[in-house]
Amino acid sequence: MDGGELVTRGFGIVGTGVIAAIHADAIALLPDARLVAVTDVATGAAAAFAAAHGCAAEPDLGSLLARRDVEVVCVCVPSGLHAVVGVQAAKAGKHLVVEKPIDVSLEAADRLIDAAQAAGVALTVISQHRFDPGLIELKRLLDDRALGRLVLGEASTKWYRTQAYYDSAAWRGTDAMDGGSLMNQGVHYVDLLRWCMGPPAEVSAVCSTQAHQIEAEDTALALVRFASGAVGTILSSTAAFPGFPQRLEITGTEGTVIVEDGRIVRRALSGGSAGPAASADSAAGDPSAAADPAAVDAASHAAQLADLLDAVDTGREPAVSGRSGRDALEIILAVYESSRTGRPVRLAR
Ligand SMILES: NC(=O)c1ccc[n+]([C@@H]2O[C@H](COP(=O)([O-])OP(=O)(O)OC[C@H]3O[C@@H](n4cnc5c(N)ncnc54)[C@H](O)[C@@H]3O)[C@@H](O)[C@H]2O)c1
Repeated sequence: MDGGELVTRGFGIVGTGVIAAIHADAIALLPDARLVAVTDVATGAAAAFAAAHGCAAEPDLGSLLARRDVEVVCVCVPSGLHAVVGVQAAKAGKHLVVEKPIDVSLEAADRLIDAAQAAGVALTVISQHRFDPGLIELKRLLDDRALGRLVLGEASTKWYRTQAYYDSAAWRGTDAMDGGSLMNQGVHYVDLLRWCMGPPAEVSAVCSTQAHQIEAEDTALALVRFASGAVGTILSSTAAFPGFPQRLEITGTEGTVIVEDGRIVRRALSGGSAGPAASADSAAGDPSAAADPAAVDAASHAAQLADLLDAVDTGREPAVSGRSGRDALEIILAVYESSRTGRPVRLAR
């Protein structure tokens, strides 16, 4: 290869529903990536998507995976099918971008992680808000120990989804394919809480289904004791009209940082800096996702895809690995189990 020549990486998308359009937009934002082909069990949907995004529509997963010009596969099918599709793609030698959550059971998550490892392909689980400017800044402050010893971490997703949203596809709100508010919507900030606070040791929770006709919960509330000794809360709801910014509040012995929709809105540190941070002014996050499931900003997805390509090139783990996706899922399943049994759930470490 000549020095400076740009290698274009071919992407394929499996599942051409709501989030697939964000993946197509994210791929288009990357100078070294190209959407090559898509597939969906609804072949008409795949054809329409392909026409809109200027790529091929393959009739089935096998044909998409047989294409040598597809190097990375974005798994955008319902959550309970992530491992089924991802394992096949890994066996075909494709690098994997799997939408959140990694899947809905730890067994499925492990199958996917093991398949990627066995095939020697990279796997990243989408947690696009790790790439929001406010989160990058918060993580830098934590790595610099600017907040001191961590004391309290709070993750809150008070969003609103109509019954029509749940009725829009048969898998939504089911235990087997989706899970409820925490598994689908709250998972983003559960991952951020775990990323900032470290592993939890114990979870106690109450979940309920109050405002929707669905199998899973539409409201979840949990107390967390972290392995470090810090404590925290997780709140997630799709019953909070009209929908509010997702919030992460991290408090240490030296101060507190508050993030809303990917922006730092308050930074009070004993070392001096107080008030909103510079990143509060920068465009980030997708505040309208509070009420509109399709209103996701493609820039943070693009940053995560770029991270995956860099990981492939350099042989390192992606920033959000399969293991990170499993860690978030483990917390969510512990919340569900605690609510079901009425007992605290200990997490093995
Ligand atoms: N990161 C985010 O912000 C974000 C936002 C929305 C959804 N998601 C995630 O994306 C995934 C999909 O959600 P959505 O809202 O796009 O769903 P959707 O129902 O709009 O789209 C899913 C598509 O997958 C297709 N499909 C189902 N089974 C298939 C199979 N076996 N092979 C190929 N195609 C198949 C369906 O026909 C449908 O077109 C979920 O896991 C969800 O949690 C992530």
